[in-house]
Amino acid sequence: MRVLVTGGAGYIGSVVTEALLGRGHEVVVYDNLVRGHRDAVPDAVPLVLGDVLDAATLGGELREHRIEGVVHLAGLSLVGESMSDPGRYYHANVAGGLTLLDAMRGAGVGLLVFSSSAAVYGGPDKQPIEENDPPAPTNPYGESKLVVERAIAWYGAAYGLRGVSLRYFNAAGASARCGERHDPETHLIPIVLHAAAGRRDGVTIYGDDYPTRDGTCVRDYVHVLDLADAHVRALDALAAGAPTASYNLGCGGEGYTVREVVSAASAVTGRRIVTHVGPRRLGDPATLVAATGRITRELGWRPQHQDLREIIESAWRYEQKRGDAA
Ligand code: UFG
Repeated sequence: MRVLVTGGAGYIGSVVTEALLGRGHEVVVYDNLVRGHRDAVPDAVPLVLGDVLDAATLGGELREHRIEGVVHLAGLSLVGESMSDPGRYYHANVAGGLTLLDAMRGAGVGLLVFSSSAAVYGGPDKQPIEENDPPAPTNPYGESKLVVERAIAWYGAAYGLRGVSLRYFNAAGASARCGERHDPETHLIPIVLHAAAGRRDGVTIYGDDYPTRDGTCVRDYVHVLDLADAHVRALDALAAGAPTASYNLGCGGEGYTVREVVSAASAVTGRRIVTHVGPRRLGDPATLVAATGRITRELGWRPQHQDLREIIESAWRYEQKRGDAA
């Protein structure tokens, strides 16, 4: 299939692009490079410099490349930033998502895989979280993802578009070529590895008085390679006639606490990682773990790399490669 990957120069988008190529799809990356990196796009893949708010460019590219399906990852994804600047999130994620849906409709492209988030659930008490649990976002980021999920359903009913929304829990790890490099970095695993590499002094644990097994927050870390595989499966399922649906994308199980992540990272790197406990970060739920039965049943997806050490090892290899290149 000829696939447009919006945000294909970003962390997850670049690995999704690799996975699509690996399964024989033709890919065009569409990215404004505000948060993405040109060198994350393989040389053989056309990179269109464009914004998802630019309807004319988007529509033109969909037609020119005779695109059959879109994987939409372009957008902003920092919870804290969305709280302090909600307008930016509504524009980039909601207006951007609607512009894309309209452009797809105009160009006659009817298949969409959408990068959604566990943030649509807010911080529910009931764990693990199932897709039918009521969405209740607690920040504009999660809200923006939910609005687009709902638009996909309504557009689908009226205009014949079908879309799969993948609600990522905590994406982590790296492929052989691509990994996480945000600036500023806010995610736990890269921060811990930067500390191990001596690129920062230590790690602040945001609160150790949560009702969890060691007092620190529990999250469901999912390897970016498994995440990418789910996008390819979703696209293939849509092409085979699957209906619009939303799926959790996590490993399930018990999840890992912040302290467990730090000690796994010390074991993997063989380095001492200095931590100190700071106050809770605003808006952090105590526990977020996915129920993953639906995606296993309907798309045949199962994580292949759910061991936290393996996830951290891949991120550490990437971190060391970057260190060498710097
Ligand atoms: N944490 C620390 N210290 C740090 C960074 C993080 O203790 O320096 C803790 C956080 O408090 C949290 C855990 O590590 O408990 C994971 O934090 P991340 O920032 O790595 O990830 P989040 O769980 O906050 O965010 C993820 C996705 C978001 C998504 C959210 C859903 O990255 O896109 O889950 O709530 F919105």
